[in-house]
Amino acid sequence: MPNILMRLPPAKPTTYPISIEAGLLKKTKQWLSQASSYSSVVIITDNNVKSLYANSLASQLKKQHKKIVVISLPAGEQSKSAPNKQKIETILLKNQCDRATLILALGGGVIGDLAGFTAATYMRGIAFMQLPTTLLAMVDSSVGGKTGINTSLGKNLIGAFYQPKAVIADIDCLHSLSEKEFINGLVEALKYFLIYDKKQFMWAKNNLAKIVSREKSFLQKLIYHSVLIKSIIVQKDEKENNLRMICNLGHTIGHALEKVSHYKVMHGYAVAFGILVEAKIAELLGFLNADDFYMIQTVFAKLGILGHHYKKYSVEKILSATKSDKKNRGGKTRYVLLERIGKINAFDNAFAQVVLDAVVRKAIKWVVASNCKVASG
Ligand code: GLY
Repeated sequence: MPNILMRLPPAKPTTYPISIEAGLLKKTKQWLSQASSYSSVVIITDNNVKSLYANSLASQLKKQHKKIVVISLPAGEQSKSAPNKQKIETILLKNQCDRATLILALGGGVIGDLAGFTAATYMRGIAFMQLPTTLLAMVDSSVGGKTGINTSLGKNLIGAFYQPKAVIADIDCLHSLSEKEFINGLVEALKYFLIYDKKQFMWAKNNLAKIVSREKSFLQKLIYHSVLIKSIIVQKDEKENNLRMICNLGHTIGHALEKVSHYKVMHGYAVAFGILVEAKIAELLGFLNADDFYMIQTVFAKLGILGHHYKKYSVEKILSATKSDKKNRGGKTRYVLLERIGKINAFDNAFAQVVLDAVVRKAIKWVVASNCKVASG
């Protein structure tokens, strides 16, 4: 029998707008002018965001659209689960949501990832928009199409690359965040500057106080440049075959710490710890110079992030939790390593490297012990 060749037309290039502005949630017509082209609009949110923004968004949209459904889940990482995805799907089916339904993911990274993954699989894929309300979601998770859920074996292990129709970042939402939630997101913005743009890192370092006090122009610049860097990277490597891995700086150790802490350590804080450890690994291996490491350590210390805060977590447990990281190949854990601030090391054209456990162990122990000096110095 001859082989049959399936030929599909090349996929249409995906483009979508990313708007970063104050007051966008109140200007729905600006970004959802064609609401009537959807059979229903479903807002997926969490219980904290619901009272802050979802109810008023729903009543505004009701003026534009007859069928609005609001689905709210408990806030927190534990909600990013298969049972919750199934719950949402059941509600969508019971409300007779068809393929022309639009999902609005209103909230932080947990909601964006969960709602996006639901949109990716519901009736084999329906439209969704990201409406991030946290800094972390604005600078990172809402952009680039990563969607997914956690399992007991690790974070984001089940999911899909599925791009939204638009990202609408209303920076007014950032004023309702606690300082901890704000810093949680700021770490991811700093990560983008560390991997790609030294000039922006120096700008953030020199304006840290103004950024933390949430001055509007500083917020807008911080988000704009993070998203710009991410969009350049994602356009070159959407499915993370190579270059996009650089967005995972700090995440091998960061995800492991989140898992070991049962998600008590927030993502951004875990990533900051991960960046310190992975930068120390890069220094131990002779890629990164000590001055660059010290500059990174000092910026995080100014944000109140110190290695010794994490000394209660077992080094061996963190190491063993890295073994289920998505970047691993052939059972070997891989790390994104800085060459200098603004540039990731690419050995043999690969942006993630295998590192001996002994080196990782040494780096974790060093970071946990030495940050104390920065705190008092
Ligand atoms: N959060 C990293 C990425 O989207 O690739």
